[in-house]
Amino acid sequence: MYEINKAAVIGAGTMGLGIAGQLANAGVDVFLLDVPADGDNRNAHGERAIERLLDENQPGLTHRDNLMRITIGNIEDDLDKLSDADWIAEAIVERLDVKKNLYKQIDAVRKSGSIVSSNTSTIPIALLVEDMPDDFQAEFAITHFFNPVRFMRFLEIVRGEKTRAEVISCLEDFNESRMGKGIVVCNDTPGFLGNRVGVFAIQTALHKAFELGMEPEEADAIFGRPMGIPKTGVFGLYDLIGIDLMSDVAKSLVSILPDHDEFHKVSAEIPLMAKMIAAGQTGNKSKSGGFYRIADEADRTSKQTLDFASGKYRDFDNSKPRIAEEAEREGDFTRLLAADDLNGQYAWAILSNTLCYAAELVPDVNESLVAVDDSMKLGYNWLQGPFEMIDAIGPDRFVERLRNEKRPIPDFLETVVGRTFYKVENGALHYLCANGNYKKLERTEGIVRFSEQRRELSPVFENSAASYFGLPSDIGLVEFHSKANTLDGDSMRLLAEALKHACENYKGLIIHNDAQHFSCGVNLDRVLRFIRDDNWDGLDLFLDHFQKTVQSLTHAAIPVVAAPSGLSLGGGFEVVLACDKVIFHANSVTGLVETLVGVVPGGGGVKEMLYRWYEHFGDIEKAAWEVFMNIGNGKTAKSPLEAEPLAMFRPSVDTYVMNRDRLLRSAEDSVLAMHSSYSAAQRGSLAMPGRDVWQAMQDWPAKALGKGYLMPHGVTTNTQLAMIATGGDVKAGTEMSENDLFALERRAFLTLAKTNETRARIEYMLEHGTPLRN
Ligand code: NAI
Repeated sequence: MYEINKAAVIGAGTMGLGIAGQLANAGVDVFLLDVPADGDNRNAHGERAIERLLDENQPGLTHRDNLMRITIGNIEDDLDKLSDADWIAEAIVERLDVKKNLYKQIDAVRKSGSIVSSNTSTIPIALLVEDMPDDFQAEFAITHFFNPVRFMRFLEIVRGEKTRAEVISCLEDFNESRMGKGIVVCNDTPGFLGNRVGVFAIQTALHKAFELGMEPEEADAIFGRPMGIPKTGVFGLYDLIGIDLMSDVAKSLVSILPDHDEFHKVSAEIPLMAKMIAAGQTGNKSKSGGFYRIADEADRTSKQTLDFASGKYRDFDNSKPRIAEEAEREGDFTRLLAADDLNGQYAWAILSNTLCYAAELVPDVNESLVAVDDSMKLGYNWLQGPFEMIDAIGPDRFVERLRNEKRPIPDFLETVVGRTFYKVENGALHYLCANGNYKKLERTEGIVRFSEQRRELSPVFENSAASYFGLPSDIGLVEFHSKANTLDGDSMRLLAEALKHACENYKGLIIHNDAQHFSCGVNLDRVLRFIRDDNWDGLDLFLDHFQKTVQSLTHAAIPVVAAPSGLSLGGGFEVVLACDKVIFHANSVTGLVETLVGVVPGGGGVKEMLYRWYEHFGDIEKAAWEVFMNIGNGKTAKSPLEAEPLAMFRPSVDTYVMNRDRLLRSAEDSVLAMHSSYSAAQRGSLAMPGRDVWQAMQDWPAKALGKGYLMPHGVTTNTQLAMIATGGDVKAGTEMSENDLFALERRAFLTLAKTNETRARIEYMLEHGTPLRN
């Protein structure tokens, strides 16, 4: 009955522009209205929103062309446009009176059968619609998106007392499949679910850090990656969001949560922070800095930290406690809890409080612990939800430690004693309900998270870097799981063995994982070790094995499909490039970025792009130039649509999905569709452009050097890249096979790896996590 084909968003601020952008990404035409601006240009707010959507650092659009779907306007001149919309999403200021007033205006023009929703973070639905007629209330809900809308996977939908079930299911279906969101339907309780737990955790981390007298770096070294939480930590997160804004969020939760809520214990304003706000030290957005600041904008490593005692900035302390490094490396936050020092105390204080708080919310705030876990994983990018974390600690151990400290045990936590919140029974994942019974975890058809499915399977084989499974669909699956999913000998060995096994036993092979990033590239630590040991034969062997493995993916007897999300860079993207078909997530970032660390792709990246461009142009010289310019500049694409003009996404073969939880099922469907008539790709040789073009390419970096665009080592790197792309010092038309091109890649890689400049670049990258820019 309800169907969304056209939409309107009211409020062109941070959230409104994000929602409008994602609607456009989903292929929906959308009106974006704000109040008329003062002055001649009444649509100035909308224009500013469009500028923000195109922001290079955080683009709200998967492609610039999507802008065509957005029409801006203002609610005075263009209110009648709402009569066309199937969904009107309100995202204006968080003021009840202003919102109520707007709903009256909307109701006067909207068509019946249109859905209206609010993005409010704090106002109960009952209050929002109290003055509105029943038919409006029946078609009204809260749709609470997270910022930035394109990238945050979480959406909370709140149903009002009179909201029709069909309205909720339409919003769920549309937002899940078209907008790519993971949805939790929440009760109309203060702060809903995500912010309730998320802000509690952040506030606890903040208050405990001050209580324990920890420096910002010390606190953030624990409440970050080691805990399975984004690396910004707590002080970094305050800086990122804005110290003033985060303080307002805490205050607004204080105003809506019941008096007995534990949140009040961690919500008091910290005097130092009040002073900082008054002095304009509100974080990254302010020139005066926040808890941290960058002293010299030209040098991102010049980070400094606020010294609480003196109020002055001092050098950032990069050292990390050993326990934090171990916990992060092993992906095991429970190690932190075992530490008998300040770090352990801090970790326990945050986790014990937060996990108990989460347990208190079931069943009154939400009946399902899965919803609580989802809200933290999708809304706050935690690796595990609170209940998964309690399972990892061991519920009995957790409860015992609380009892020893004479702390109250939430009822739901009592229920789990002697058991776990999740368990696999009859091959299916179940979760514990508040009534003490287990229920099978069932997601919408097509939604499959491998992190969940993995629990129901045993690996056929595994090592420290990757695992290989057989899916019930008779397809093999390789999952990378090293830190940032960087690739080393183990990853490639497993991939090679898995392919062999899959060829003999399955219909195809999928390469996929559910981590934040598919793969950030070859493990540079490993490469650096070869360099430091002068082990050039070892490095050559490593590259040779890498190349042979990716080549075997291309030429295997079964279809091989990659399903990446997040970053697929360098070597990670070379694996993707070698697959028969790729199912990308709409926000996948791809690129061959090796030149940024002073090397060239050595795992078939240059070769593969040369073949692709040659197939595109039918002209090897043009193909070689494209390869040279794109890889030489380390070009990346922030979406498959942006990857298309770079030949990194083949629209006739590859595809993309808006919801990353649909990647795996789409990949399985593709393998099953391909396997019966599958024949492996054949690759002939290429007639290379040869020495004249090589020479012309060498002139280009020399000119760029003269103009200051390139540093001297850039010239060396580009010369090697040009050598592969053209065949080097050979006659034009010299035939080269895939293997010849592989050999050129290895030669170029080794030549560069032997230079001090490349070594310095790799060392810099490993130390700072960002490439050296000079
Ligand atoms: P914002 O301040 O960035 O933007 C609000 C926009 O609404 C402004 O452009 C303003 O001119 C416009 N506006 C105000 N009154 C209007 C009216 N009567 N008609 C049309 N436009 C009007 O606010 P933001 O951050 O985008 O928040 C919007 C809503 O989303 C609020 O309800 C907020 O609580 C909620 N929210 C905000 C999140 C965030 O991270 N900023 C996250 C989730 C929800």
